[in-house]
Amino acid sequence: MRIVVLVSGSGSNLQAVIDAVASGSLPVEIAAVGADRPGTFGIERAAAAGLDTFVVNFKDHAARTDWDAALLEAVAAYKPDYVVSSGFMRIVAPGFIDAFEGRYVNTHPALLPSFPGAHGVRDAMAYGVKVTGCTVHFADAGVDTGPIIAQTPVAILPGDTEDILHERIKVAERELLIKVLGDLAAA
Ligand code: GAR
Repeated sequence: MRIVVLVSGSGSNLQAVIDAVASGSLPVEIAAVGADRPGTFGIERAAAAGLDTFVVNFKDHAARTDWDAALLEAVAAYKPDYVVSSGFMRIVAPGFIDAFEGRYVNTHPALLPSFPGAHGVRDAMAYGVKVTGCTVHFADAGVDTGPIIAQTPVAILPGDTEDILHERIKVAERELLIKVLGDLAAA
């Protein structure tokens, strides 16, 4: 199973996938790692692992549709079986979803459909829920929407800050993402 992983930030979930592949516990080939902006640590991690990388810089494209087309072309060139949005903070165009229908997997640090968006951890804390978690799902053209594949609950504890809670969620998120990718590879 060939995957392309898309990142916008630190790529700690990507690192977990890289490590699982390297250890032989995840039978997946990471064809490439792409980002929507230059200078992400996620791309550095990929390069350090010897993986192909690409950047389709959102800011380099005058029209949104130009960026959409460039992203689709860059990802499709690797002929992935699945595309994984791992902290990729952009909504992709309907054309991208059509091209990878049922093959675009997103991970999110909340129990969807609650708390979608860029601040899922913060929003759950602000609401005052006592249990949040993480979700891996097939993404559609909405904001963190699409059929849910798997979820893990994580309790919010007294004394949690957004960072502390997000780190605890990420521990669960990495395990869940690797499990889902392993299941997809075995299917
Ligand atoms: C992850 O928690 C991921 O679920 C979240 O960004 C983080 C990326 O961390 N994604 C979203 O919030 C999408 N709405 P990482 O770059 O260290 O893997």
